[in-house]
Formats: sequence, structure tokens, C-alpha cells
Amino acid sequence: MSTRIPLPYSSKVLEIFSNPKNLGPMSDATVVESAGSLACGDMIKLYLKIIKVGEVDVVEKATFESYGCAANIAAASILTELIINKSLADAWRISWKAVSDVLGGLPPIKYHCSILAVGALKRAIRTYYKKGNVMPEWLPKDLTVEERQVLEEEEMLERYSKFMREGIQGGSK
Ligand code: FES
Repeated sequence: MSTRIPLPYSSKVLEIFSNPKNLGPMSDATVVESAGSLACGDMIKLYLKIIKVGEVDVVEKATFESYGCAANIAAASILTELIINKSLADAWRISWKAVSDVLGGLPPIKYHCSILAVGALKRAIRTYYKKGNVMPEWLPKDLTVEERQVLEEEEMLERYSKFMREGIQGGSK
């Protein structure tokens, strides 16, 4: 009998986890960015196809690959749905909390799954503008709190992964 305590996921998380939208790589993506660390398995990769509609940069298509948990898959899936047909300015303003709220609220231990998803989006938007597109006024020059949270998450994931590797090697001596 399993001794694991089931996480209090909302029915929406479970529903999207079993039927995620926009899953898989995109061959004609304008930008591809990721957040998290493959070393320990928690990672999301986001693919965006961005087009110009007049002067406005718009997300025409968005897909993702996730190497994370059910919450990460659900957060990434809902995020792609939220940003398709949105301007990059509007997509930029989507917070990890907003994603969590649309999912019916994530358990606190799973907040970082939504933080990684939104972090990948913010990175993708920055990368798009670094590729020679005119930097818009709404894009902050310095990293936002959410972007710094992702960096902290990644450092933590790397430390955890190193600890596990060294622990396993130490244990096998
Ligand atoms: Fe790490 Fe969900 S992605 S626990």
C-alpha cells in the first residue's frame, strides 16, 4: 500500500493533466526557451510562433514540452491557451499567480511549477527582442521579481541534483 499523501490538486489540474493542449515541439517556432533544469527533471520548454499584426507582435501559435509534474504540465498547457492570439505585451503581463488561479489554485508546494512556466514565457519574449527586434517600452530592462524567482528555482534544482548525484556516488563507494 502506498504511503504517499495525494496532493490536493483541483479538478481542473487533473483534467488538463490528462488532456493537455498544445503539447509537443514546433518546427517553425520563432523562439524556443526553457526554464528549470533537466538535470533533476523539472523543466519546461516553450515554443512560440510570433507574427506581426501591423506594428504589434502577436503570438500566433504556442506549444510546450514538459519534463515536470502534473501541475507543471497543466500550468504550461493553460499558459499556451492564454497567450495564443495575444500581443507579446499582454502575454508578458500574465503572472504565475494568474495561471495558478485559472487552474483553480495550485497547492503551495507546487507554486514553482507555474513559476517555471511563466518564466519560460518571459525568457522567450526577451529572446525574441534580443534577436534584433525593436525593444518595446513595456519590456523592463532589469529582470522582474518573477524572472529572478526562476533563477533561484534553477539554482536550487541544480544544487538538489548535485546533492543527489554526489549522495548516490558516495553511497556506492
Ligand atoms: Fe517541479 Fe512540478 S515542476 S514539482
